[in-house]
Amino acid sequence: MSEFEFARDRLAVALDVESLDQAEALVEVLAGVPGWLKVGGELFTVAGPAAIAVAGKCAKVFLDTKLHDIPNTVARTVGAATRHGVSMLTLHTSGGGDMLRAARAAAEDTAAPGDRPRPLLLGVTVLTSLSSDALREMGFAAGVVADQVMRMVDLALESGIDGVVASPHEAAAIRSRAGAEFRIVTPGIRPEGWPADDQARTATAAGAIAAGSDLLVVGRPVLQALDPSGAARLLIGEIERACGAEET
Ligand code: C5P
Repeated sequence: MSEFEFARDRLAVALDVESLDQAEALVEVLAGVPGWLKVGGELFTVAGPAAIAVAGKCAKVFLDTKLHDIPNTVARTVGAATRHGVSMLTLHTSGGGDMLRAARAAAEDTAAPGDRPRPLLLGVTVLTSLSSDALREMGFAAGVVADQVMRMVDLALESGIDGVVASPHEAAAIRSRAGAEFRIVTPGIRPEGWPADDQARTATAAGAIAAGSDLLVVGRPVLQALDPSGAARLLIGEIERACGAEET
């Protein structure tokens, strides 16, 4: 898939910072390294579309505001994000099939008149911070993360969205169920020796690629590194080697 062609296109660094100034400084340091920059809830709430513009100076923009609302509201929001030129955005699959189909239609309808590419739509299946115990606490009777993820994958496929966000632990099963064209984006990436932080289901970059992930999302292991650009380059090197190992 062209959007994930080179190793650098398979890394998204999460701009999880609290101000536009911090985002600008980080974008300057990371320029030309990761192919994607992710704008999440915190930065978007602080800086709005300016954050998309800053990230878009040197990478494709992944807007990760995890939409979850009635279909009409989600469709209008997807339309607005499309006009801002984001290349990928997230929405909760648990918002239901009507919401997902409305989002897809809005992305297509908004992109078409300007002949711009529509953003890829990714469903959040089960947050990578949630364990089986947490699912049971939320009232999911079976409380088995893998089963709930697969239900959400089926819904994503039926509703015509492009892929899902999932833990690297589920990537291989999702790949075999959903096929080669379905996009799988995995947060919860941790270099050897790095703490899990609040992620419950983690893997190394090489492990995530081997499991079938298209795009790895990395926040703290890059943001908290003494040399964020160097940390991102190390991850890209690891991705490149893992992709090479897959091809041989
Ligand atoms: O710092 P860390 O590498 O854990 O950051 C992971 C990023 O991926 C965060 O921006 C988080 O919001 C995002 N994410 C996640 N789990 C999901 C979806 C997105 O951790 N299921």
